[in-house]
Amino acid sequence: MERLASLAIDPDIRRARTLPAWVYSDAEVHRLQRERVFLKSWQWVADADRVKVPGAVCPVTVLEGCLDEPLVVSRDRDDVLHCLSNVCTHRGTLVCERDGVEAFMRCRYHGRRFTLDGKFLSMPEFDGVEGFPSPADDLPRVPFGQLGKLLFASLRPAFPFAELVADVQARCGFLPFDRAVFDATRSREYLVQANWALYCDNYLEGFHIPYVHGGLAQAIDYANYRCELYPWSTLQLGVTQPGVECFTLPSGHPDANLRVGAYYWWFYPNTMLNLYPWGVSLNVVRPLDVNRTKVSFLSFVWDGSRLDRGAGGGLDRVEREDEVIVESVQRGTASRLYERGRYSPARESGVHHFHTLLARSMRHA
Ligand code: FES
Ligand SMILES: [Fe+2]
Repeated sequence: MERLASLAIDPDIRRARTLPAWVYSDAEVHRLQRERVFLKSWQWVADADRVKVPGAVCPVTVLEGCLDEPLVVSRDRDDVLHCLSNVCTHRGTLVCERDGVEAFMRCRYHGRRFTLDGKFLSMPEFDGVEGFPSPADDLPRVPFGQLGKLLFASLRPAFPFAELVADVQARCGFLPFDRAVFDATRSREYLVQANWALYCDNYLEGFHIPYVHGGLAQAIDYANYRCELYPWSTLQLGVTQPGVECFTLPSGHPDANLRVGAYYWWFYPNTMLNLYPWGVSLNVVRPLDVNRTKVSFLSFVWDGSRLDRGAGGGLDRVEREDEVIVESVQRGTASRLYERGRYSPARESGVHHFHTLLARSMRHA
């Protein structure tokens, strides 16, 4: 696709123009993003509590509705985690179909067995098959990484997981990630009639907070709101008004002199990790189609007594306000009279960073 080959964002935000509107509305561009962007990125796949004990296995799907890759996460008898293809190497059935604790995995179609680290173990009726078994009969291993209980996997990583999470670990590693417990009752899914990247664009700037989020604007000190850029992530610092719920930071922490109510981390390309005094709200943005996106809000709570307050309260309202505005942008970018815009250097450095990374990935097959 020729216009993708020349897609670039000027590194100088003062000169740069935003992504052209066709990136958000062209079905072919969207199809290519699956291979060029998502396949090579890190995606959240599971809560590690699903594989808490040795022998535990759980089936997961990488980026449902877009990549749809079936994997299995297992914890072997030596307490080591594995992330494997969940496709039987015989004729392709899914091997693990539900969470459980097992001595081995057995395909229910013709009985092929695998160890919990994915090695071929046995197969009935295969006497006389040449060169069998071979390493090709093992379940392929998939690169994965862990941030507390959040498990991420990548089918073809363009960069190491450590590079994705190094900055969040350095800045927010003091938080009790290992104590966070998934709370399904506080988790939600939203269907947004817009391109996934518009949803991310909107997330990546606090510029719209005073205009779109009246409630949140009262908790946030907008003048002190800022965005920091990292190689594969951004951090927006939600500094709160006096009297509003905020983190108790360890002494010597770089933000110790600020009232931080929220750390809003975005991981390239479609994951958001919102850290609040009560815990983590993980947002997974799933592209279903060029103009349809499913957004999952997953809550992991480490301090239930601090829920529903400050910047981390009223998340559902904020989400609906964002949804409406993003859907309006989707209709606008389809206009014949709109091509692309410019950035506010003071307020849109995060959007500029995302567009730079996205344009770069989309240029390369
Ligand atoms: S497909 Fe798994 S044993 Fe045949
Ligand atoms: Fe918003």
